[in-house]
Parts: sequence; structure tokens; C-alpha cells
Amino acid sequence: MYITTTSSPMVELSRQQDGSHDLTAFARDVAEGLRQPRKTLPSRYFYDGTGSRLFQQIMELPEYYLTRSELEVLTQNKYEMAQQFSRQGFFHLIDLGAGDALKTKILLKELSNQQSEFDYVPVDISGDAMRQLSGSLRQELPQLRVEAVVGEYFQALEWLQEHKSERKVVLFLGSNIGNFRPRESINFLSSIRSYLRPGDQLLMGVDLRKNPEVILKAYSDASGVTAAFNLNLLHRINRELGADFNVDQFCHHALYDPQEGVMRSFLVSKTNQEVHIQKAGVTVHFDAWEAIHTENSCKYTIPQVEELGRQCGFKPASVFYDSRKGFADVLFSID
Ligand code: AVI
Repeated sequence: MYITTTSSPMVELSRQQDGSHDLTAFARDVAEGLRQPRKTLPSRYFYDGTGSRLFQQIMELPEYYLTRSELEVLTQNKYEMAQQFSRQGFFHLIDLGAGDALKTKILLKELSNQQSEFDYVPVDISGDAMRQLSGSLRQELPQLRVEAVVGEYFQALEWLQEHKSERKVVLFLGSNIGNFRPRESINFLSSIRSYLRPGDQLLMGVDLRKNPEVILKAYSDASGVTAAFNLNLLHRINRELGADFNVDQFCHHALYDPQEGVMRSFLVSKTNQEVHIQKAGVTVHFDAWEAIHTENSCKYTIPQVEELGRQCGFKPASVFYDSRKGFADVLFSID
């Protein structure tokens, strides 16, 4: 689904695709993940309405430094970033996983101040988030042309393909890349690269390796919001797939592997129990203290990120850090 807005107060649904969530795929992925000897559930299913609201709360937690760090990177470097984006004239600014675009608005305002010629293409799975963002941008930046895309990342790739011959700057902020497995991140960045051409750019946010205690606290906060975010996945499966998870009989557990630079999140069964998932057609047995792996959040070194970019056909151009060098936005170009 594309939502096109300009300074006009009208929100126009210019093309209807099925941006809604695919229950068959959800049931299939849940059944497949819970059938494994080491049970897993894909983290992309965290983000239903409640999950998205909980993630907003996570971003405001004192322990979750990532969002504040990236806000600092963007605020301190907005002039230079905007200059680099605008060097070759008009471009589409494509924001993958835009959400409320709190961070991107720093760049949007700077680009507008510099009178850059661009339009803005936020992409997010939440139609509500995209409608709210389009509305807030109409107030804050009425001259900005916005074409919001409601869908998963692959729908953004479709958009890129349709606009292949036009200049593009892709934003992939928030260390969202860290939630992919290594092979998935290579495949995803390589697909993005295949729709870009010389002169296009990619700005990617990455959380850097640091004191493991700091990282661990960010994913096991004292107030329990991250636990609620993780457990909400079971509530969602109950509601949407007719399952009978007793959510109180599971707990959140996070652990950081400093050798691999991976934060891993789990849901752990507190008892020996059985769960029926009606729409997936499965009954799943859990031993006491058996875990479901729900998320990886990778932490990088700059050479790793640069190498990842190179492997996918990008050329590292600039690295913008926060003052503690704990988070970076890395700008890649294409020759
Ligand atoms: C969206 N993503 C980058 C977050 C992260 O840090 O991996 C999701 C998250 N999971 C728990 N807290 C935040």
C-alpha cells in the first residue's frame, strides 16, 4: 500500500496492495520454528500494535542507549550528511523501518533548510505509523513530498525496483541490520544494492561493541518493558493463531556473547507444559526451562560493517560516531 501526501491535507491511497499481515505465513513460521530441536520464533513478529507500542517505550528506557546515541550522531552530523546526500541533485530518501521517524526528522529538517531537492519515502509494516507520520510531516514540513509505503522490507525492494533509474539515498537506521542473521544481512543488503546505481548512497545505523554489561542491561531493563515486549509474541500467537500459551509460565531471558558480538533473547518455559496452536495445527511440548530463541541483536566493529558493505557491493564513504563511539551511522556509496 502506498500513501502519497503533499502539502495538501488529503491522504490519497494511490495503490492498494495487501499491506496487511499474512496469517498463513505467520502460522507456518511459528509451526516451523517450534518444531526445531532448538525452538525459535522470528523476531519480525514482535511488531503488532502492542509490540510496536512497547518498542516505543523501550526506546525511551534509560538502559536502551541505542536510540539516544543515534539521535546524537544525527544531530551532530546532520549538516555533513545532508551535504553528502545532495551532492548530485534530486534524490528519493527511502527510510526502511521508519516508524515515527523521530531520528529521520533531524535529517529532513536539515535537508529542507539546505533547500535540497528530494522527496521522502518512509517504509514501515505499520499502516497506522505511516498515516501518523504523513500527518505529522504535513504539519512540520508542509512542502515535503511524502510517499509512505506500508509493507515489509521486500515491499520496499519492489519500490526500489520501480524507481531503479532515479537517484536514491537509502536509510537503514536504528541498528535494524543487527536483527538479521549474518547470511540474511548479506542477502538483504545485496538485494538493496541490486536496485541502486552509481551515485546512490546507503546510510546504515549500527550498534558497536562495548562493555557487555551495558549491552546486557539494554535488553533486560529493570522495569521489565523488554520482557513484556518479548512475551507479547506469545500473546499475539494466542490471539491470532488460536493458541493457549499460559504466558505467565514463560519468562524473558537475555544474554550477550562478547566473542560473537551477539545479544540473544529467549522466552523460557518455567514448567513442563503443552501448548496447542490451533491455526498452525500443532501441539508443542516444553520441558521445564526449555527456551525459545526469539531475537538476535548483533553488535559490530567498524571494520566488520565496512566489510559487510563491501561484500554487498557498497563502498564505505564516511563513519559518523556518537561521542562515546558506541554507535555509528556508516555512509556507503556506489561507484
Ligand atoms: C529493532 N531492533 C534494532 C531492536 C534491537 O535493539 O535489536 C529491537 C529490540 N529488541 C529488544 N529491545 C529492542
